Amino acid sequence: MAMIETSRLRLRRWRETDAAPLARVNADPEVMRWIGDGRVRDERQTRAGLEAMERMWEAEGFGLFAVELRATAEVIGFTGLSVPDFLPEVSATVEVGWRLGRPHWGRGLATEAATAAVRFGFEDRGLERIISIVQVGNDASERVMAKLGMRLERDTVDPTCGRPVRLYELTQDRFRALGAATRRVPRNDAGQ
Ligand SMILES: CC(C)(COP(=O)(O)OP(=O)(O)OC[C@H]1O[C@@H](n2cnc3c(N)ncnc32)[C@H](O)[C@@H]1OP(=O)(O)O)[C@@H](O)C(=O)NCCC(=O)NCCS
Repeated sequence: MAMIETSRLRLRRWRETDAAPLARVNADPEVMRWIGDGRVRDERQTRAGLEAMERMWEAEGFGLFAVELRATAEVIGFTGLSVPDFLPEVSATVEVGWRLGRPHWGRGLATEAATAAVRFGFEDRGLERIISIVQVGNDASERVMAKLGMRLERDTVDPTCGRPVRLYELTQDRFRALGAATRRVPRNDAGQ
């Protein structure tokens, strides 16, 4: 499996030419504010990150997808599945994550992309449970988790940077039960 299409997006494996557009996303301090210690990443670090993403695809059969706008084929960021090594207490599970360039925020694209990634995990890879980890204060990302139908499982701390994080979870059963309703979760419903 290398490609998924949604109404506005294409999720696919990485290409050499994706490093430059992803490096522009990673160079924006607003994008990186709630990632790790909040530091931006340069093109060399971005290339190393892309190589790690592709290694995860080879090792696990899942990974982070490049997210492309179908209308223009522009790479605007990523979403997908990974093993959260940075948090040893849950590193035996699978996390869904997302990062988009700022010009593309606020149009529902992260939710559209992440819904496809979660469906891939449950239906294509047969996962029973997917988590997501968000730094306290990253309200837009926490809202995406709520819209996916995720529930708050615990509060903890990211040991790599000392920042407080929240861990959300979604089971395959709940994802199936919610169906299309996952995109209609009312505000302030996360964790209830
Ligand atoms: C998090 C991110 C992917 C969201 O992308 P997006 O395409 O704008 O997300 P969506 O439009 O699908 O949903 C965002 C939701 O958060 C809401 N939101 C946005 N900013 C918010 C804020 N400051 N406080 C509360 N809610 C906020 C939006 O209104 C929307 O909810 P709604 O549909 O109920 O109105 C994007 O902001 C991003 O790339 N951030 C930087 C990287 C990052 O933090 N990644 C996640 C690490 S856990």
